[in-house]
Amino acid sequence: MMITLVKLIIGIFAILAVNSINTYESIEEYNELTELYASNYTLKASRVKAFQILENKCNVCHYKRNKRRVFTLENMNPWANDIYNQVFIKKRMPKGKKIKLTSKEYQELLTWISSAKASTNGI
Ligand code: HEC
Repeated sequence: MMITLVKLIIGIFAILAVNSINTYESIEEYNELTELYASNYTLKASRVKAFQILENKCNVCHYKRNKRRVFTLENMNPWANDIYNQVFIKKRMPKGKKIKLTSKEYQELLTWISSAKASTNGI
């Protein structure tokens, strides 16, 4: 009788211990997921910001003078490298003297470009 009781108590403790390990693991998992969502969110936010720049400072002209290269939220990531070359390396774009990028806009484009280059799935 006494032994059965001891076994029962040990059993209960064992169950409690396993449960708390599970709880701990699911908290860890939850934290990882939250981080993943947060970084996805930042990626998306940087793309939306960059798109606004592309729309205002690039598409305005491309709509008329380079229709094949009108940037959208969907097609912009594969263009990131080209945009980097034209804007930061060769400094050919934005073309002409009328349209200029502010230093904040340069920074925001760069933030998006580096995340677009880093992410393979084009989030
Ligand atoms: C005032 C007009 C105008 C503006 C503003 C402009 N573009 Fe262009 N862009 C052109 C024209 C015209 C071409 C095609 C002829 C050429 O390459 O010069 C072109 C071509 C390009 C190309 C392809 C070049 C190549 O040879 O591969 C890229 C990439 C590009 N633009 C990016 C941009 C980006 C990014 C911006 C904004 C930051 C921008 N453009 C702003 C007129 C413009």
